[in-house]
Amino acid sequence: MTERLAPDAAGIARAAALLGAGELVAFGTETVYGLGGDACNPRAVAAIFAAKGRPRFNPLICHYPDAETAFAHVAAPEAARRLAAAFWPGPLTLVLPRREDCPVALLTGAGLATLAVRVPAPPITQALLRAVARPIAAPSANRSGRVSPTTAAHVLHDLDGRIAAVLDSGPCPVGVESTVLDLSGDAPLLLRPGGTTREAIEALVGPMRAGPTAGERAAPRSPGMLGSHYAPARPVRLRADSVATDEALLAFGPPLTGAGATFQLSAGADPVEAAANLFAGLHALDGECARRGLARIAVMPIPETGLGLAINDRLRRAAAPRPSARKPTFLA
Ligand code: TXA
Ligand code: MG
Repeated sequence: MTERLAPDAAGIARAAALLGAGELVAFGTETVYGLGGDACNPRAVAAIFAAKGRPRFNPLICHYPDAETAFAHVAAPEAARRLAAAFWPGPLTLVLPRREDCPVALLTGAGLATLAVRVPAPPITQALLRAVARPIAAPSANRSGRVSPTTAAHVLHDLDGRIAAVLDSGPCPVGVESTVLDLSGDAPLLLRPGGTTREAIEALVGPMRAGPTAGERAAPRSPGMLGSHYAPARPVRLRADSVATDEALLAFGPPLTGAGATFQLSAGADPVEAAANLFAGLHALDGECARRGLARIAVMPIPETGLGLAINDRLRRAAAPRPSARKPTFLA
């Protein structure tokens, strides 16, 4: 079912064509195999979450062939340029603010105002990224809760039949994930230790703090950790079975009538399509609420199966009571 592609010109061209058509292709990097999809195509990104079986939308890393193409999509301060010059291509991921005109799908960054960007080194990975000519979103190519794969055989063990192809570039030389560094705040924040050492980074940008990753912050273990969950400006009402004229409706399947504004997540009640549209929908309805003076967003019920789990996880956090001093780190 899943094509196994050789790391030659034909294999790279086939992988690039599949990715360009919105299909999922696993590929090797210096760290671990990534489960790749077109970062600008929300359907492809939703399919990544579905293939992994992730119960929530963690933000994904975008892979670029070089710093120039990466920094066209995110704003890079001096420290980012220095680190890129020293460590790219290589196992370092930088979290930076999205540019206004950034074409990457909101779902790729799980609705965050920042985007994680990385430039992998292996020549085959480089050739693939140049052939696709668009950013590739890729989490590690394992099912949720399993270990990260460092060979094509590991990938197939977890994902055979769930993805279009794997580009087999042999074992990954580094074997641990990239270091994730958040440069979007006042001081550099180490979100995940990895293939680029802390010492090497600090030699260039000075001492840094360590903090929770966006995934950890998005999965609070205590109510006190709810500080940075996704939240539109208006209150959110879940499992709506009717809707009022002063409400904006997030519809799933045949829409309820009477809302002040409606955004359809998926007319055919397809959870993958709904996931692809989720953040754009919340963003759009927040705008409608402001323009038309609507009081809240009402959300139609979405089944707790497949990607519905991740959609409901995110909607529940959007509907949770807000800490008043929430820092607005999320878009919309
Ligand atoms: O080596 C790697 O980084 C591999 C290869 C495939 O590139 N990728 C990988 O992706 O490990 P993943 O999805 O398993 O881990 C991405 C990490 C998560 O901890 C996530 O929370 C963090 O990066 N991250 C992504 N975007 C972020 C953002 N905007 N803000 C903060 N953290 C972010
Ligand atoms: Mg992972």
